[in-house]
This record gives sequence, C-alpha cells and structure tokens, in this order.
Amino acid sequence: MIYPDFNNIIINNSVGVSPVGSDTQLIAQQVAQLDFTRALEVGIGTGFIPIYLSTLNRQCEGIDINPQAINCASENAKLNQVDVKFFLSDLFANVTGKFELIIFNPPYGNVRSTFASKYLEIIKSLLPKENPLLSKITYLLIRKSRRQLISLFLDNVKSVLVDSGNIVILLHYSELDLIKDSKFRILGELGQQKLVCI
Ligand SMILES: C[S@@+](CC[C@H](N)C(=O)[O-])C[C@H]1O[C@@H](n2cnc3c(N)ncnc32)[C@H](O)[C@@H]1O
Repeated sequence: MIYPDFNNIIINNSVGVSPVGSDTQLIAQQVAQLDFTRALEVGIGTGFIPIYLSTLNRQCEGIDINPQAINCASENAKLNQVDVKFFLSDLFANVTGKFELIIFNPPYGNVRSTFASKYLEIIKSLLPKENPLLSKITYLLIRKSRRQLISLFLDNVKSVLVDSGNIVILLHYSELDLIKDSKFRILGELGQQKLVCI
C-alpha cells in the first residue's frame, strides 16, 4: 500500500507481522519532528517507521524479535530503495552503540518465540488492529506480560541511550505509572493510548 502522507512510501504487510495502523502512523509523524542524528526502533513490524525516516534522510536502525518482521521490513526497504539496518534482537541483546532516540510501540502480547506465540502473531496480524472492542479484550488478556516487557525495556534502555537522549513509547494510560519517576511529555493520543516522549 502507498502512503501519500508519508513521502509515498510503499509498505506491504505480511502474515505473522504486526501490520501498519494509526498507531504506527502517529509515531512516524511525531518522531520525524524530533531532533536526533541516530535513532533505533525496537519492534519494527513492517519497518514503516525507520523506512519513512530514511526517506527524510534521518538515520534509524530497527530491531525485532520476530524473524518474519526482519524479512518483511527488509523487503519493504528494498521496495522503497532505502538502505536501513534491520536486525534480529530480543530487546537490546544484539544492539551495540548508543542512540539519541529509542522508539518503542510495545506489542499486544509477548512473542518470546514459543511455538504457540508464533501462531498468536499470525492471528494478530490478520485481525483488524483498529477495532476498539478487540483492543480492549486483547489488552486485558495480555496486560501483565506487556507490563513486564515494558519494565524490562525501561530497565535496560539506558545502556543504548546517550546521556541527553530521548525515548518515545506508546503506552496504555494505565501504564503511565511505569514512568512516574521520569520527566515526560505527551506527543499524541490514540484512544486509551498515549504517545510519550521521556
Ligand atoms: C505493536 S508491534 C509494533 C510494530 C511497528 N513498530 C508499528 O508501530 O507498526 C510490536 C513489535 O514488537 C516486536 N517485539 C515484541 N517483543 C519484542 C522483543 N522482546 N524485542 C524486540 N521486538 C519485540 C513484535 O514482534 C512486533 O513487531
């Protein structure tokens, strides 16, 4: 699909990979306005955000725990004739160096690669992401494992962030307590989710 509001990038979704949604587009639009020289997106899905940034001559690498997401994002980068570094990593396990900006749209479900979780990813990629009722039900089912993943992310993010760096993360309003000790501002809202810059 072509995205006219995003430099006409062409992004194909892929079964088993988190599809582009209004969350993806809100994050891409907001991070493009921030000041940074080198960014890292954790959990790239289709690669939409790093690919869009790359078309604006902004440098953004991307990681994902799901090999299918790495393949999908790499194919999408080729399609848009941009050179973006995508690689497999469970959070920061394979990340080296430091970044001025870390972007994270945490998953609705924990995909630490068990057999069952691969099927969960396929089902999620086929269901409409924007359905509010479905989002509420999914959130209730997975909120504990999602909080754990976000806490792990927040505990480790400093190891890959420069001292004055920023984190942009999309949180459910009930997760804002996880960042209560940090200074943050809200960049945008999407239903019950807040896009925050820490
Ligand atoms: C909600 S999707 C976001 C996809 C994309 N950034 C977007 O906004 O459309 C979350 C992504 O995080 C990835 N993910 C989940 N757990 C992860 C982990 N431990 N390390 C890296 N990526 C992870 C999932 O595979 C998925 O692609």
